[in-house]
Amino acid sequence: MAVDSLIELRGVNKYYGQSHVLQDIDLTVSRGEVVVVIGPSGSGKSTLCRTVNRLETIESGRILIDGRPLPEEGRGLARLRAEVGMVFQSFNLFAHRTVLANVSLAQIKVRGRKKEDADRRSLRLLDRVGLASQADKLPAQLSGGQQQRVAIARALAMDPKVMLFDEPTSALDPEMINEVLEVMRQLAREGMTMVVVTHEMGFARSAANRVVFMADGRIVEDRTPDDFFTAPESERARDFLSKILKH
Ligand SMILES: Nc1ncnc2c1ncn2[C@@H]1O[C@H](COP(=O)(O)OP(=O)(O)O)[C@@H](O)[C@H]1O
Ligand SMILES: [Mg+2]
Repeated sequence: MAVDSLIELRGVNKYYGQSHVLQDIDLTVSRGEVVVVIGPSGSGKSTLCRTVNRLETIESGRILIDGRPLPEEGRGLARLRAEVGMVFQSFNLFAHRTVLANVSLAQIKVRGRKKEDADRRSLRLLDRVGLASQADKLPAQLSGGQQQRVAIARALAMDPKVMLFDEPTSALDPEMINEVLEVMRQLAREGMTMVVVTHEMGFARSAANRVVFMADGRIVEDRTPDDFFTAPESERARDFLSKILKH
């Protein structure tokens, strides 16, 4: 294993019934690296993210986080999940809790922090994503882009070693996409290890160290953004790029 790999998948296979949705996946993400995962709908991108923090089980292969195998269940698994921050397309904030409470809740329940400590930390993180002034509002009083930034602050509050983003801007109106991508760019500059599933090719070009292209449950290409975008090797990738870059 590479010394500095934070996420390591070796020979990972995942089925839903007869459907082989992850096929012999090998993937290493090093500390501080930003890996953008792209590919057609149904290619297994979300499933890949969900296996990394064990929201899904796998049939074979190995997944290591910071050199340790994924625990099966119990405390070890809860701790590991806290180390892997996850941000989804839908923000999943608690509707009847304030923004501040949303960011503090898991810190108190999973990390065992005192409420005052959690709140102090939440305010710092809300400030970092530009939302300190919104702390006492309810999620519904915020725009989609603001809610997604709250979700990012909530994930960061657990001190994750790595952040997974699964299409974090896909549900947002166009004018809100950039404010979320800007927070992600900032995180990347600060050295956060990130796996980002996205269709935002501008982000992939400017922020990614590597682009992983998936199709039919396989990793088809795994290269630098420059190499990938200027000279995709596979027919699948060329076809995919011509479709998304056209519209
Ligand atoms: N909970 C599930 N049960 C059965 N099949 C699923 C489930 N989730 C995803 N799939 C199937 O697994 C494949 C990969 O899906 P997914 O990882 O969501 O792809 P992507 O995120 O790239 O669009 C698809 O064929 C999808 O229909
Ligand atoms: Mg998906």
